[in-house]
Amino acid sequence: MTAKPDKEKKTPFDAERAPRYDSTIQAVMPGYQSLHALVKFLLADCLGDEAHLLIAGVGTGLEIEILGNANPGWRFTGFDPSEGMIDQAKARMDRTGLAERARLVVGAIDDLDPAPAFDAATLLLVMHFLPDNGAKLAMLKGIAQRLKPGAPLVLADLHGASDTARHARLMKVWRHWQLAHGLDPEDVEKGFRFIAKNVHFVPETRLFALLHEAGFTGIEHFHQAFLAGGWLAFRHGRS
Ligand SMILES: C[S@@+](CC[C@H](N)C(=O)[O-])C[C@H]1O[C@@H](n2cnc3c(N)ncnc32)[C@H](O)[C@@H]1O
Repeated sequence: MTAKPDKEKKTPFDAERAPRYDSTIQAVMPGYQSLHALVKFLLADCLGDEAHLLIAGVGTGLEIEILGNANPGWRFTGFDPSEGMIDQAKARMDRTGLAERARLVVGAIDDLDPAPAFDAATLLLVMHFLPDNGAKLAMLKGIAQRLKPGAPLVLADLHGASDTARHARLMKVWRHWQLAHGLDPEDVEKGFRFIAKNVHFVPETRLFALLHEAGFTGIEHFHQAFLAGGWLAFRHGRS
């Protein structure tokens, strides 16, 4: 698909941030590696040898590398409005020999064919960037519409009510965690300003309500690292 640079404005992951993502994300996001490892095992349990997966907010393509290497019969369609992130993902596909099994789209969920073609979807560390003004729900509905009945979705998001003592404590601990993982103190402060501006926290109960409203069921909480959680859910209907 042709690149649509105007869409890049809809994500804070611009051409400047994208090349730094892979070298910093593990120090920024507690549990990033284990989240991806857990997703690999969860999806292997749900899917057969042949499957087509939708990777929403594919970023630099780590989901495709991990899942594609472990499952030679799986194919992927990944989308992301950031042209810079998709460029990084394309380079990863070339490096890892996965380019033939991965279609990468610069764009939003609405740019994909609406047919229920996918056997599974991931939405990892993406939906927290969308405001709860209909945008989170539209993303989940857009994914549900493109999944076969009974297909799994793996969601991971920063979450929790942001006006609580728990939130304040975990934000403080998260700062200490980043500093202990070698990030420059100025970059840490910049990162927290980025979070304050771009991340739209909602409580887990709201995530469940959004998932239900979008047509997902059987929700299971499988991961938690400070404020980042992971859930497995299934598109309503029989497979
Ligand atoms: C923290 S990265 C996560 C990337 C990848 N899923 C991972 O786990 O490494 C968030 C990604 O979400 C993308 N994003 C932001 N808004 C989006 C939207 N409306 N639709 C799809 N992706 C979006 C950003 O461009 C960015 O690449």
